[in-house]
Amino acid sequence: MTFRWPAALLAGTLLSPAVFAQAPSKADLAKAQQTASQVCAACHAGDGNSVLSANPVLAGQHADYTFKQLTNFKAQGGKPAERPNPIMAGMVANLSADDMRGLGAYFETQKPKPRAARDAEVAKLGQAIYRGGILAKNVAACTACHSANGAGVPAQFPRLAGQHAEYTSAQLKGCAWWPRSSPTGRLRRWPSTSPACARPRTA
Ligand code: HEC
Ligand code: HEC
Repeated sequence: MTFRWPAALLAGTLLSPAVFAQAPSKADLAKAQQTASQVCAACHAGDGNSVLSANPVLAGQHADYTFKQLTNFKAQGGKPAERPNPIMAGMVANLSADDMRGLGAYFETQKPKPRAARDAEVAKLGQAIYRGGILAKNVAACTACHSANGAGVPAQFPRLAGQHAEYTSAQLKGCAWWPRSSPTGRLRRWPSTSPACARPRTA
């Protein structure tokens, strides 16, 4: 897979209306806040600033992206979930599309807490790749889609700024057999020997 994205392709495929969620109603938002404090708070914190690094920060993430991920965690129409995750599968099992839309909108309004790099050297390497990519390996600069400061670009390109380092690298190193789908292609993954990547038995 190469990482060349002609402008025409970007314009044509990224703006597909299917990926945009409708605005939630007031009732859905109120319900979302309640669900967030009663259910999601256990792992992501009520305001989306999760404490444990395995649980992604949801605060400030684009509503449409969160909506898409929640949809992808759910097995629907007899098909397996696009983004299989045993924990989140349980969380979304009883959520309707309106619930998911409301949750996306709720977490978008929450303020992400700033996070400082723990290892300045490693962060410097990351910054260089983020800004310039890796030419020899055909890795595109991340800024092309996630914006110069990591705030992402609604609706398709998620915010990466302020996310836990461990969660971010886990997503990048994730299981090669499970490519996360995206409107532009697939989140690039490398083969992993992590036990979490053991292929689940198909029933
Ligand atoms: C028991 C812990 C737990 C609870 C409760 C929980 N989550 Fe999660 N959530 C996780 C973990 C762990 C992941 C990371 C999955 C992975 O590694 O791909 C995750 C991932 C997500 C993601 C993907 C974030 C991204 O950046 O792609 C969203 C969105 C999300 N959760 C929303 C929710 C919502 C909304 C609720 C409440 C209805 C909820 N979660 C409840 C543990 C939890
Ligand atoms: C061509 C556009 C594009 C480029 C370039 C790109 N990304 Fe992404 N990235 C995406 C899209 C689209 C998604 C959302 C995929 C989905 O919906 O599951 C994503 C998702 C991610 C996620 C998961 C976020 C989360 O909350 O789970 C991480 C981490 C990530 N990208 C890191 C990077 C890094 C690091 C680079 C540079 C080496 C990069 N991306 C370059 C488009 C891009």
